[in-house]
Amino acid sequence: MKLVSKKICLIGDYGVGKTSLIRRFVERQFSDQYLSTVGVKISRKTLQIPGSEASSDRELKLLIWDLEGRQKFKAISPQYLQGASGAIVVADVTRVETLASLVGHIRMFLTVNSTGAIAIAYNKVDLIDESQAADYLSRVHLDGLGQTIPVYLSSAKTGLNVDTIFAQLGERL
Ligand code: GTP
Repeated sequence: MKLVSKKICLIGDYGVGKTSLIRRFVERQFSDQYLSTVGVKISRKTLQIPGSEASSDRELKLLIWDLEGRQKFKAISPQYLQGASGAIVVADVTRVETLASLVGHIRMFLTVNSTGAIAIAYNKVDLIDESQAADYLSRVHLDGLGQTIPVYLSSAKTGLNVDTIFAQLGERL
């Protein structure tokens, strides 16, 4: 069994649910309380990555960096992104302005880690209906970023797609 350790970052505007997604994934819990992250908080979780026939299974230790959400006029400090192998970029489907800033967050991450793997989480889908959610997905235009970025609808409240996002990102690292 091989053990590999990788850093991933959760990035997005303030209040989109970054801390809640991590909490759901690591602690299997959700809270309605909003405690804004100040600076950075690091959580750890180990994933089992099944090997191919030729290679044995791997243990992937994820160091998950929860970065303070960007407020207006305040950019994420690039030093927090350094050394990251991947990022989950999060938007809140109930706040259209958080969708508009996705590409800016992605570009910022790629400036620091040009070969990093990215996933997008459209979070809080429990608050909208299915047809609206499908409409959000059809609006994603992520051309010109140099990689095909998987997009997920997620809910930290119900747990929808939370494990899948982390597991599939982990497999790409
Ligand atoms: P910052 O630390 O300020 O950047 O915020 P954040 O992106 O870490 O957001 P946080 O996880 O603190 O969530 C903000 C609020 O949204 C909290 O009140 C959460 O309970 C709520 N929330 C987060 N995810 C979901 C979700 O999937 N569904 C619902 N209904 N509420 C959510």
